[in-house]
Amino acid sequence: MQAADSPPRTLNAVAETIDVCALDELPPGAIRRVEWEDVEIMVVNCGDELLAMEDRCSHDNGDLAEGELDPSRCAIECPRHGSRFDLRSGRPLNLPAYAPVETFPVSVEDGRVRVAVE
Ligand code: FES
Repeated sequence: MQAADSPPRTLNAVAETIDVCALDELPPGAIRRVEWEDVEIMVVNCGDELLAMEDRCSHDNGDLAEGELDPSRCAIECPRHGSRFDLRSGRPLNLPAYAPVETFPVSVEDGRVRVAVE
């Protein structure tokens, strides 16, 4: 029996990891796409830093993986209207987009690039 002053029990969302590709298939400057449920995710090797972000511009659904990668800032420019997004935070760096795009943790396990989703 649970005491009256005990904190309520909560269920934590369990993260799922999805396989993207072998690490050597994602060299610096490369972008890979993976789909999870209805979400398209782009995984980018930005100067040996692996980053994952939803592949859909928050302004008007532009395909961000088709945009120009700026490896010096780890940013990508939407090919439709030019908003650039910080791949680490998902935040837009200029208008017309103003809402962030979701980002996802990336890991490497047994030489495979994996993205955590929930
Ligand atoms: S759709 Fe990306 S800036 Fe408009």
